[in-house]
Amino acid sequence: MCGIIGAVAETAIKPVLDGLGRLEYRGYDSSGISLLSNNEIQTIKAQGKLTNLKQRLSEQVLDGECCIGHTRWATHGRASVTNAHPHQCGQVSVVHNGIIENYLQLKHQLAQWGHHFSSATDSEVIPHLINHYLSQHLSEEEAIAKTVAQLKGSYAIGVLINSTSKNLYAIKQGSPLVISQGNEGAYMASDAMALGSDSGKIYYPNDNELIKLNTHDITLCNDSSNKRIHYIKNKQSSDAISKGQHSSYMEKEIFEQVDLMKRLSVSNDTDEYSSINFNQINKITIIACGTSYYAASIAKSWFEKYANILVEIDIASEYRYRSPIVSEKELTIFVSQSGETADTLAALRYAKSKKAQTLALVNVINSSIAREADFSFEIYAGPEIGVASTKAFSCQLAIFYKMTLEAAKQREFIDANEISVLAKNFMQLPYLMEKVLQRCLEMKDMAKKLTKFSNVLFLGRGELTAIAQEGALKLKEISYIHAEAYAAGELKHGPIALLDEQMPVLVIAPKNGLTDKLLSNIQEVQARNAPIFIIGDRSNKQYINLQEDEFFELPEMPESIQALISVIPMQLLALYSAQQLGKNVDQPRNLAKSVTVE
Ligand code: G6P
Repeated sequence: MCGIIGAVAETAIKPVLDGLGRLEYRGYDSSGISLLSNNEIQTIKAQGKLTNLKQRLSEQVLDGECCIGHTRWATHGRASVTNAHPHQCGQVSVVHNGIIENYLQLKHQLAQWGHHFSSATDSEVIPHLINHYLSQHLSEEEAIAKTVAQLKGSYAIGVLINSTSKNLYAIKQGSPLVISQGNEGAYMASDAMALGSDSGKIYYPNDNELIKLNTHDITLCNDSSNKRIHYIKNKQSSDAISKGQHSSYMEKEIFEQVDLMKRLSVSNDTDEYSSINFNQINKITIIACGTSYYAASIAKSWFEKYANILVEIDIASEYRYRSPIVSEKELTIFVSQSGETADTLAALRYAKSKKAQTLALVNVINSSIAREADFSFEIYAGPEIGVASTKAFSCQLAIFYKMTLEAAKQREFIDANEISVLAKNFMQLPYLMEKVLQRCLEMKDMAKKLTKFSNVLFLGRGELTAIAQEGALKLKEISYIHAEAYAAGELKHGPIALLDEQMPVLVIAPKNGLTDKLLSNIQEVQARNAPIFIIGDRSNKQYINLQEDEFFELPEMPESIQALISVIPMQLLALYSAQQLGKNVDQPRNLAKSVTVE
């Protein structure tokens, strides 16, 4: 997490501040900039959202050619002005994303050399070390190289040094970093989306390449072979990032899903998926975090049901630590909206080291995960800004659905007729999603009622258990209402003990082969006087006496696409509950969109 940005340009503060706005999804508990102006480094920081920093900056006239900026998601040290970046020591100022694991040891060493620290962060050791080596008459490049050689952990750093040469340096180890040469300046940032319109050409540095940016050029400092920087076209456009008519990015992204499904249902991308030979695979392992993990859970059900492929799923932060059995005939799929999640990236590297085939399913096609996997497929959701993932989830599912059809075709597990029925079901997605979204106000009423409680239990069955889990995750992420999800059949094995008038239960119950079983589970809940909310088929309402705001009717729909439709009311419920409680929907407390630390 944490976003870093730097610019060498005529008025460098402008692209840095604009970029920080686009990087706020990485963290928003404090922010700051350092500007090289009149041979002096000025560092200004503020706690809280970026607007607080902008407010402080508006109180003074600042101008200079070299600027670095940072937006923070606290790891070491609470959110405060002192802990905010940039961190400065003498004539060196640094912004850092990542974690320096051996910072205590380095701090101790620096303290013995007479250095004093003002923050509780791991990052502050970096400017101190650079400053120490500069004081020993090493060149700027040597001082940085000698510093990073001592750092353990992951980092992407921007370094501003007050000297006559006015250089900005960038270097990374394991964390994302992008460099761009524009017409009006040279830039570095945590991701390409942070860069403005003057950034058509970008370069993704390798680990430990020291990049020097100044008004004349961008150079690779530490490459003995004089390797040149090979720029590629920047495919990330920052233009698409606007809320339009909507009150929040999350709301906009929920409503965008109809158009995205329209586009995905007509696009002819199945050829892409035929590049995988599903007959040569003995197992698929899908690895992801958060919402992407729930998409993996549904994909498991589809691949097994329709293509008869054994699928295992795993949480990225667990995968490489549990000594998984990885075979060369296994396809490992890494699902990540951002393509930068540190745990997922580490799991990918682990699978590669075990010689498994690796496939990335990402929204950001130039991301680290996409670049490092053997193959990568894009989910085409467009930039997702709301921290709580919505449209990326449906696009991940849509691509998994198409991959499942391709796998089913190749493996001939179901016949051509069944495959064509599944394909036709997919075409109904935009229409059915629209039908649900048109009745969004009903979910607003349900949210009003639900927000009176402090806990909610979500239930589903089959692959809709993952939708219940996703619904519970969405609700807790942005409304801070405690929510848990269970497969409905598990209710009697523990959670039923929680049921009383204060523990509402929300059941996802569209019409399918498990409806009768689910109705019995609903009866068990009612018998314990727990308030019940149902998102489901009309027949449920017939059996249970529910008020209007306790029931949302799902349209009749084929079973194969029920997960994709049922998630929409879950997203709306979380959105309206958070709004009802006056929470910041797009930037919930303690969370960040892209989690680039382990
Ligand atoms: C964070 C976000 C979640 C997201 C998860 C995985 O926790 O808040 O919304 O699902 O990371 O992110 P990824 O980019 O790998 O899909």
